[in-house]
Amino acid sequence: MAGCADDKEAGAQVEQREVDFRTLDDVIFTRFDGDTENLIMILQDITAECNYLPRGALIYVAEKLKVPLSEIFGAATFYKAFSLTPRGKYIVNVCLGTACHVRGAEKVKESLEQRLNIYEGETTEDLKFTLDTVRCVGCCALGPVVTVNEKAHGGLDRAKALKVIEKYEKEASQTDSSMERGMS
Ligand code: FES
Repeated sequence: MAGCADDKEAGAQVEQREVDFRTLDDVIFTRFDGDTENLIMILQDITAECNYLPRGALIYVAEKLKVPLSEIFGAATFYKAFSLTPRGKYIVNVCLGTACHVRGAEKVKESLEQRLNIYEGETTEDLKFTLDTVRCVGCCALGPVVTVNEKAHGGLDRAKALKVIEKYEKEASQTDSSMERGMS
């Protein structure tokens, strides 16, 4: 996440991030020509860099684009894809569309809430997982479906859903340990 300088403390509830203004300049001016017409794409790219929209970044965008901050916040809060609070490395969406619902999606959701110790819309303290729901991701025949970031996992029940989470936990800890090795 090049756009956010992370200052992580294990177990900290909220990760302190400082906005990297050079990256914001790159997003605003190099990628999108400082054009207010590209505001949504600018916010998408900042989200891709930081996993959410830090307040400092929104203030910076407002200044640079010479757009009222209220307008920036309006766009940032209108779309579900944007978040003003830190989100997890893995965004877990449980599909609660009709086809998934009739096959037990609610139970899958409950088991994930218990496993991750969070409710819908929340993020784990270690910032690994955010749990959310969606209405149909377009692969109804595979229901119940859970997506993790862009990847869909189908045919889930409680146990299979937990296995999916375990897989990503393992992946996250492997990434963490290889980063630690790289820093030592
Ligand atoms: S209802 Fe879940 S994928 Fe369509």
